[in-house]
Amino acid sequence: MHSSESTDLSSAQPTVAYDSILDLAPYQTGKPVEELTREYGVSDVVKLASNENPIGCSPAVTLAITEQLGQLSRYPDGNGYYLKQGIAEFTGIKLDGITLGNGSNDLLDILARTFVGTDDAIVYSQYAFVVYSMLAKMQGATGIEVPAQRFGHDLDAMRQAVEDNANTKIVFIANPNNPTGTQLERAELRQFVASLPSSVLVVLDEAYTEYSPESNNRALLDEFDNVVIVRTFSKAYGLAGLRIGYALSSAPIAGLLNRVRQPFNVSRIGLAAAAAALADQDFIETVCQTNREQMQWLEKQFDTLGLGFIKSHANFIMVEIDDEDTAAINQALLEQGVIVRPLVGYGLPDWLRITVGVAEENMRLIDTLRSILTDD
Ligand SMILES: Cc1ncc(COP(=O)(O)O)c(C=O)c1O
Repeated sequence: MHSSESTDLSSAQPTVAYDSILDLAPYQTGKPVEELTREYGVSDVVKLASNENPIGCSPAVTLAITEQLGQLSRYPDGNGYYLKQGIAEFTGIKLDGITLGNGSNDLLDILARTFVGTDDAIVYSQYAFVVYSMLAKMQGATGIEVPAQRFGHDLDAMRQAVEDNANTKIVFIANPNNPTGTQLERAELRQFVASLPSSVLVVLDEAYTEYSPESNNRALLDEFDNVVIVRTFSKAYGLAGLRIGYALSSAPIAGLLNRVRQPFNVSRIGLAAAAAALADQDFIETVCQTNREQMQWLEKQFDTLGLGFIKSHANFIMVEIDDEDTAAINQALLEQGVIVRPLVGYGLPDWLRITVGVAEENMRLIDTLRSILTDD
C-alpha cells in the first residue's frame, strides 16, 4: 500500500495565475442556437449575435473540403503554401509577408505574444473589439483605453496616448469597428500612422473589410513597415466554424510571427476551404449586395420603431433601446427564439448589436422586437 503522504495531494496549493489573468473576464460568445433550444424549448431559432454570414459560404468550399477527407491522417502543410499563394495574388503581398492563423483571433494573440511583455503597453479605443484589452491582461502589460469619439476611434487622442506612454508596443485599430460599426477615413488613418514612431506597431483589424472597400488599407503596407493588417475568413467568407484568418505585414514581422505561432495552427480542411472561398469573389459580391440591401431595410425599420442606431459599415448594426430596460428586451427576444448581442460588457448597456441576417431572419427580428416594444 502506498503511504498517504506520497499520494494525498489535497493540501497542495494550486499554482496561482498572474494577477492580470485573475482579473480577466472570459470572452462572451453569442449564445449557441442549441443552448437556446434547450433552455426555452424554441425550435426555429434566429441567431443574429456573432456577425456570421447568414448565407453560408461559397459552394466551391464543399468540393474543396471533400477532396481533403481521405487525407485527414496527415498533418496539413505547416506553411499553408497554396492558400498563401492565393492570398498573395489577391492582396499583392509576397508569400513571406503572410502569416496564417486559427481565426484572426489567433493572429491578434500571436502579435501580442511576439511583441508585448510585462513592461509594455497596448493602446486601443473605448468600444473597440474587446479582445485587445484581454490581450493586454494576458501579457501582464498595461492596457490603455482611449475614450471614443462619436462611438469610433479618436485618432488624435490615441496619438497622444502613444506619446504619453513611451512603452507602447502595439496600437490596435478595428476598421470597421466591432461592435459600433464605425469606419475611419483613409487619409486620416494614413496621417495617424505617419505621425507615430516606427517602433510602434499599428495593427489594423480588418475583419469586416469585405463589406466596405473604403476600409481596405492594404496600401499602407507599401509605405510603412510598422503596419500589420489582420483579416478573417469568418465573416463575409462564411467560414467561422473552420477558424482561419491571415495577417499581412513586412517579411521581417511575418518571420517573427511564424516563430511564435503553433506548428500546424491551421487545419488541412481550413486551408483548402479558405483557398476555395478566396477564389470565389462572385460569392463575396452577392454577400455584400445582400448585406447592403438588408442593412438599408433594417435602418428603415428602426426609424419606424423610433429606435436610434449608429451608421454601420459592416454586417451588423448597433441599436439603441431608448430608456427601456434593454436587458429585459434582450431576454424577451431570447425567449422568442431571437439571439442578438447585448453590450453591457462594452459599457453600452442601452444598446444591442444585431447581425444583419437574410430577409426572413430580419423580418422575424423586427416583428418580434415590435411586439415586445408595443406590449406594455
Ligand atoms: C473586429 C474583430 N476582429 C477579430 C475577430 C475574430 O474573428 P475570428 O477569430 O473568427 O477570425 C472578430 C470576431 O468577431 C472581430 O469582430
